[in-house]
Amino acid sequence: MGRITTSGKGRRWVLGGHPWIYADDIAQRDAKPGELVPVFGPNDEPLGWGLHSSASRIAVRLVTRSAEQPKRDTWRALIQRAVDTRSALGLLDERGSCRLVSGDAEHLPGFVVDRYADVLVVQSGCQGSDALRDFLVEVLLEVVPFEVRAVLERSDSGVRRLEELEPRVEWLKGSVDEPVLVEEPDELVYEVDVTHGHKTGHYLDQRDNRAVAGGYALAVPDGTGRMLDAFSYDGLFGIQAARRGAEDVLCLDQAAACEERVRRNAELNGVAKKVRFEKADLMQDLRRRVKEGESYDLVVVDPPAFARNRKEAAGAARGYRELNLRALGLVNSGGHLVTASCSFAVSRESFIGHLEDAARDSGRDAYLLHVAGAAHDHPVLLGLPESNYLKCAFLRVV
Ligand SMILES: C[S@@+](CC[C@H](N)C(=O)[O-])C[C@H]1O[C@@H](n2cnc3c(N)ncnc32)[C@H](O)[C@@H]1O
Repeated sequence: MGRITTSGKGRRWVLGGHPWIYADDIAQRDAKPGELVPVFGPNDEPLGWGLHSSASRIAVRLVTRSAEQPKRDTWRALIQRAVDTRSALGLLDERGSCRLVSGDAEHLPGFVVDRYADVLVVQSGCQGSDALRDFLVEVLLEVVPFEVRAVLERSDSGVRRLEELEPRVEWLKGSVDEPVLVEEPDELVYEVDVTHGHKTGHYLDQRDNRAVAGGYALAVPDGTGRMLDAFSYDGLFGIQAARRGAEDVLCLDQAAACEERVRRNAELNGVAKKVRFEKADLMQDLRRRVKEGESYDLVVVDPPAFARNRKEAAGAARGYRELNLRALGLVNSGGHLVTASCSFAVSRESFIGHLEDAARDSGRDAYLLHVAGAAHDHPVLLGLPESNYLKCAFLRVV
């Protein structure tokens, strides 16, 4: 069995609470790719056990801070705790959806599981979770308190390149050919294309923010009931607004496949007559719409991450300022802008700073009503700031 010895800086970092150890902070490394290894400080004091990566800057992701090797029961208890948490949150409704296991934030490095009704979609993001995949899925299936029709591995995200891992998409149990139908307790209905959709097929993290944003659709006295869902993907911000009374919803996204997804989801929710889709590159398209004088009572902008790491944060700042300046130009007086950033490298404070700059440049008064994060099934582990990635600001614009 291998072992890792940290430098003094690495030891201080681990004791400071972060569960990742960077390659630069390792003094001695004797470990295979993906191996579960004990970690020691420079004086041989045990710091815990973690999954090793031979390729990534994140060389070890801690599973436990105990000196004892994690056994089957340890892994089982971690998965059980994740599932119990969703149960306590009321998210295990038979036909519903949730993030069932949230990887590093739940001490299951790289291992993410999304649940869409009776279909589970597993993502593995590091060498260690690849090595443990079959075992973790076996334990998961022992633990979940509902019938599972199929399990798909959708390990095709770009982050795997950092671990020198090939993309892997594979049915691990059963299979489904058609999109999976999800029916949420609030009667929102939608389809998820688990094999071809983005991420695991859907963006679960915005669930709660969509429900709140929908409530702003009719919040403008004498408003037009027009709503713009920019970066719409499968259209659920817009569809939630239409369900709450918005009269005319325009969904925009550059991915052509979104058109059919938005159309189907609007139809399933009985709002097909109110919801339209147009394919557009939004960095250009929003500028044109402002010039042409378009206006909406509710505008949602939910772009992809503009910064994948801290080095890209400066470029991202310009992107967020520009995008939100354009979005502000499209909001009717008294209307609302709901604007998100999923870049973990852009802090909540920086994001609000970018919104302040955009408001100043727009010459409008914008009031920050509140800033939310991801839905609670995407837990934020204190000590792991990377798990606190989503910011969603709700603004009233006058
Ligand atoms: C974070 S997702 C949006 C999630 C969606 N709002 C939801 O509630 O599920 C970002 C979306 O932006 C789209 N996108 C990325 N770059 C774009 C661009 N330049 N113009 C338009 N859409 C873009 C992607 O296709 C993706 O659907």
